This record gives sequence, C-alpha cells and structure tokens, in this order.
Amino acid sequence: MAPHRTGRLPAMLDGRLRLPLIAAPMFLVSGPELVIACCRAGVIGSFPTANCRTTDELDDWLTRMTAEVATFREANPGLPVAPVAANLIVHRSNPRVAEDLALLARYRIGLVIASVGSPEHVVGPVHDYGGLVLADVASMRHVEKAAAAGADGLILLTAGAGGQTGWANPFAFVRAARAAFDGPIVLAGGIADGVALRAAETLGADLAYMGTRFIATRESMASEAYKRMVVEARLDDITLTRAFTGLPTSMLTGSIVAAGLDPLALPERGAIDIAKDINPEARGKRRWRDIWSAGHSAEGVGDVPAVARLVERLVREYDDAEAGRATGRG
Ligand SMILES: Cc1cc2nc3c(=O)[nH]c(=O)nc-3n(C[C@H](O)[C@H](O)[C@H](O)COP(=O)(O)O)c2cc1C
Repeated sequence: MAPHRTGRLPAMLDGRLRLPLIAAPMFLVSGPELVIACCRAGVIGSFPTANCRTTDELDDWLTRMTAEVATFREANPGLPVAPVAANLIVHRSNPRVAEDLALLARYRIGLVIASVGSPEHVVGPVHDYGGLVLADVASMRHVEKAAAAGADGLILLTAGAGGQTGWANPFAFVRAARAAFDGPIVLAGGIADGVALRAAETLGADLAYMGTRFIATRESMASEAYKRMVVEARLDDITLTRAFTGLPTSMLTGSIVAAGLDPLALPERGAIDIAKDINPEARGKRRWRDIWSAGHSAEGVGDVPAVARLVERLVREYDDAEAGRATGRG
C-alpha cells in the first residue's frame, strides 16, 4: 500500500499518510475510537481537547491514543499510520489553554490545531518540544496574522463548512492564500469524497479537512439519531446562524425544528438561552448536544461506515480522480 507523497508537508508526515486528509476536530463527536481508527487507516485523526471535561481526562485520552497508535505502527511496519493531532481553542474564554498545552507537550503531540483566535501564544511552547501549529483562518487578514505569529500551516475555513464556518469561497480563498503563504495549507469545508479531496490539491491545498463526513462513521461519538440526520440531510437542510454560538455556525435544520424552534425566526446573534429567549417548551435543549451541526457536505454522506471502510472508498475515489476517471459519487 503506497503512502501518499507529501510534497510541501512537514517531514513528520513522510510515509505516514494514505491520503492528504485530516479527520477534523469536532466538539462532542471526535473521541478516542474515531481518532485511533483514523490514524490506523492512514489519515490524521484529530480531536478538540474541550471534549475532555478535565485535564485528567485529557491525560487518559492521550495515553490511550498515543499508545494504541504506536502499538499498531510497530506491528505494521509497512503501513502508513498517521499521527494524532489535538485541537486547542485558543480564545481567551478557554481557561484551560495553558494546562492542556502542557499535556500536549508532555505527550509530544506533533500537530496542534489552534482555533478560534490567534495562535501567537501557543506557537512558542509547541515549537519548543518540536511540534507544529496549524492555525484556523477565515480571511486574508487572518492569513497574514497567523503567518506573522509563526504558524507552520493554515487551515482555510470556507463557506458551508460544518461547525463554526468560514464564509469565503474556497476557490478564491485557496488561490489567494497559496499566493501569500509558503507553508502547508489545509482546505476545510464541503469535502466529503475523494474527488473533492483531489480537487483541493489541484487548487493548491496540501491537505483537506473532512468533518461532517466523519460524524457519520461507526466510531464517532455522535448519537445514532444525529448520524441518521446527517445521512438524510440534503445541502438545503443546513441553516447558517449565529444564534447558538455567537459566530456563524452551520446547523442541521431538522435538529432546530426537533428542539421546538423555528429556524426562520432565530435571534440574529448571540449564544441564546433557548428556554428563556425563544421557547420554554425547549427547556433543557442544548446547542451541540441536542441541536446539531453539519456542513453542506452532508448531501454527500449516504451511510455510516467503519472508518477503515470509508478510507478505502476515499482512496479509490481519489485515485480515480487523479487518473481522470471521476464521474460522480462513489
Ligand atoms: C459537530 C461539529 C463540531 C465541531 N467542533 C469543532 C471544534 O471543537 N474545533 C474546531 O476547530 N472545529 C470544529 N468544527 C469544525 C471542523 O473542525 C471542520 O472545520 C469542519 O467540519 C469542516 O467542514 P466539513 O464539515 O464541511 O467537512 C466542528 C464541526 C462540526 C460539524
């Protein structure tokens, strides 16, 4: 099984990837099973440290993930086995940045994804132990700031992405960022199959994120009902709203309706108190846990496979696209 050639990617990924792909970090969705399955299949598995309620729990997760991936790598010397990546919310509202970062340093997590804020305070500590920082960016101003802060790579959040989404057109954004930045670029938003993954590389990206596609896998922590809704959702079933998180977020319209809310009558902005502000019947419903996020690529998600099977399919689609044989969805 040939590893993916890495081009502009850091040496730490040499021979470690089957595809130029990161299974994106997702709040309440990415846990140890998903991360480990991804790394074993040769795609970078990532998770937000916020998925652990405490740093002790993060310690447990890191022990398990790094040990299981290392054991699998030793047992399969010929296989590309990807590294674990951790996502730190670097926004000042996160009180655990320093503690979580100290743990990532202890486990020497090679790829740290800095999101929702400037990576300036994490670049130094991560570089000190030999790790690299990938920074989320949604505008050319963010590109310039992240590059100036010393980020090693950029994750371009584009329109229609799951979670707190970008707004830029991916064609325009990748071309502009590629002209301005020499390091690795990861395209995020709307990618659910090997054809789109190959297209991201053609545009000038070195890697891509898939988030929504990995919600509907056997190993994800999403509930069965959430997975089913992602499988059934069309592109038109995604509502873009600031109502739940204060930032533009892609939500599954069906889950907003199921919580007793009118997707067309949400407040314009702000982390709302659902029961108080909108509908007392919806008391107890919580964003992310009961009101679910997914991106436009939900349209391209038609099943709930095991990660290993999904990656086999993505490799086939990617190879076909590279050979000019892409026709439609796999
Ligand atoms: C349910 C959900 C939760 C997410 N949580 C996070 C998060 O905690 N941290 C983060 O950096 N990105 C988060 N994201 C964004 C993803 O990492 C990624 O940018 C996005 O899913 C890519 O777009 P796609 O869903 O179209 O593939 C989340 C996305 C989803 C769908």
